[in-house]
Amino acid sequence: MPNPFDVRLASRAKGAKSSAIREILKVAARPDIVSFAGGLPAPELFPLEAMRRAAAACLAQGGAQALQYGPTDGDIGLRTAIAEQVTDSDKAAAATAGLPVPQPVTADQVLITTGSQQALDLVSKLLLDPGDLMVTENPSYLGALQAFRLHEARFAAVDMDDDGATPASLTAALAQGPKFAYLLPTFQNPTGRSMSTARRLAIAEVVGAAGVPIVEDDPYGALYFDRPPGPSLRSLQPELTISLGTFSKTLAPGLRLGWVVGPQEVLSRLSQLKQSADLHTSTLSQSIALEVLRSGAMPAHLATLRSVYAERCAAMLTAIEQCFPDSARFTRPAGGMFVWVELAEGVDAARLLPIALEQEKVAFVPGEPFHPNGGGENTMRLNFTHASSDVILDAVGRLGRVLERALAALPACPSGHAAVPGLVRAPDSPGLEASRRSRLTASRRDSS
Ligand SMILES: Cc1ncc(COP(=O)(O)O)c(C=O)c1O
Repeated sequence: MPNPFDVRLASRAKGAKSSAIREILKVAARPDIVSFAGGLPAPELFPLEAMRRAAAACLAQGGAQALQYGPTDGDIGLRTAIAEQVTDSDKAAAATAGLPVPQPVTADQVLITTGSQQALDLVSKLLLDPGDLMVTENPSYLGALQAFRLHEARFAAVDMDDDGATPASLTAALAQGPKFAYLLPTFQNPTGRSMSTARRLAIAEVVGAAGVPIVEDDPYGALYFDRPPGPSLRSLQPELTISLGTFSKTLAPGLRLGWVVGPQEVLSRLSQLKQSADLHTSTLSQSIALEVLRSGAMPAHLATLRSVYAERCAAMLTAIEQCFPDSARFTRPAGGMFVWVELAEGVDAARLLPIALEQEKVAFVPGEPFHPNGGGENTMRLNFTHASSDVILDAVGRLGRVLERALAALPACPSGHAAVPGLVRAPDSPGLEASRRSRLTASRRDSS
């Protein structure tokens, strides 16, 4: 008998599939696997003591309130604290960039959400009808693409260079009349790229000229290694931009606590949609986070995160340099959580994943699903925050062996040997000549 739910699915649910990669990555949770796959913070750096004290304090003082239903927009104390924090970082970024002081953000321009993932869902509900065109970077955050796809969006994908989305490509995409553009100017997921101040100003100008709303997603801005990122797009285009923030990467993802900053009228609409999603975000989580902010523990905690993550990123880059084939190109993030690797044309990262898991006990995320309109089969995303530097050095070395074997399996001459099945894409790929050249470079280096 057909499943009585399955035969009645709404069309949007029929389109929602769990990806094959997600299924494969379930094994990445095994203790014998080193996983560079998830966007997981280092669990040993969670500020457990500060959280314990904060939880005890909010249950002791306003215990009943922390356990009661609360307002949909969020706790006013927390909204005020976030508004102050955002205002301070806007001011500091403007001063560094030599720009005028932006308007302060007020508590009524802050909406608390259940993680920034909920904000992505609410924004999609607010702005997207089935078939609507929207703009994303290419590649972009997978969880956002999933939320947009669930609302049946079509994508105009914007090219990136080392400085992030390019103004020329964004101009062309905005000219197609999208509903909005989703941009990650700071330590982007998945590439780790960050826009310079000059690029931010150029993007803000393009956006202003087009008059298209921007959703700026910024979960990683506080995780810079040396110096804070440039001004937010919201501070440069406040009327056109809503920005998303989260405590997931700075405090703990288990709190499921994020926020939206933007024009008050848009937030009221998002708040109406949030009512039917979850009434409000956990009052207990909000109380604990506010208590941690008030305790003054955050500056030292953030300093620790920045220095440990900087060291882990450096370890990963060193290991990639030493152990990946010379043909691999990779980003050099100045913060955040991810390094993005582009392998030789013809190498298929999704096919390498089961081999890396089985033979070398290492997991990564293949890059293709991050591309809104397909492509990028030869790319992968590596997380550097979850494992220690020693583990990273060793496991990246093992992953390098998988990649070297994949390159060695490329056909030796155009008419010659078949590729070893499963390692590379069909041998008619246009980039194979380049890959063969890189293989030669790699093996020369090995023998030296
Ligand atoms: C770019 C980006 N946006 C949003 C999210 C979702 O974060 P949250 O835990 O706040 O829902 C993530 C999580 O990894 C992310 O990388």
